[in-house]
Amino acid sequence: MNKIIVAIDGYSSCGKSTMARRLAREAGYVYVDTGAMYRAVALYCLRNGWITAGAMEEEQISDHISSIRLEFRLRGDGGADIWLNGENVEAQIRSLEVSDGASRVSTIGAVRRELVRQQQLMGLEKGIVMDGRDIGTVVFPQAELKVFLTASAEIRAQRRLIELQSKGIEASFEDVLANVKERDERDENRTESPLRKAADAHVIDNTDLSPDQQQELLRELFLKTVGN
Ligand code: DC
Repeated sequence: MNKIIVAIDGYSSCGKSTMARRLAREAGYVYVDTGAMYRAVALYCLRNGWITAGAMEEEQISDHISSIRLEFRLRGDGGADIWLNGENVEAQIRSLEVSDGASRVSTIGAVRRELVRQQQLMGLEKGIVMDGRDIGTVVFPQAELKVFLTASAEIRAQRRLIELQSKGIEASFEDVLANVKERDERDENRTESPLRKAADAHVIDNTDLSPDQQQELLRELFLKTVGN
């Protein structure tokens, strides 16, 4: 069967990664979580004091982007963790502070150009499921299958809260909802590659879908695409 590129874009906390990871496992494809790359860059910048509550040192960040080494390394269970300059930071990049930082560094052109370059290299041999915000529009505009995932902000905040709690991270529903809305606003309105549905993307609104129902929709789209 021909290998294809699957691009999954959409709002934050929509369940993109769960869906993309499951499809990759079923298809025997590589899964790449591009949000983890922006998060790892944000963690690096937070540690260096280049992002603070009120300010971001864009020039410092742009100047240092090529010295930030990112890798995905396989875990024993078949999943992959993100490593930042030789350190496994998978657990540290999921906090609200890093979420906010990632949404901010992702507005910087030099950061986007470098991460997009790395992502395009990962797709050279196809057989890849990549999720993010600009995969179908900028990283792989030629992707054979594009999906745009969406759900109401409230349901996304509820799901994110459960995810945070399961990792032992304390947060209130109000804080998580505000974080989700703020990131939507920034993702949609930044000048550099704003979150947009590609013209040829299939929209899945999963507000009222169970994970299995949404997976079935994606599986059908995938099989139809590889069958062509
Ligand atoms: O998918 P996520 O929530 O882990 O992404 C974290 C942030 O990174 C999010 O606010 C938007 C940004 N991002 C992006 O701009 N482009 C991508 N391809 C992936 C993520």
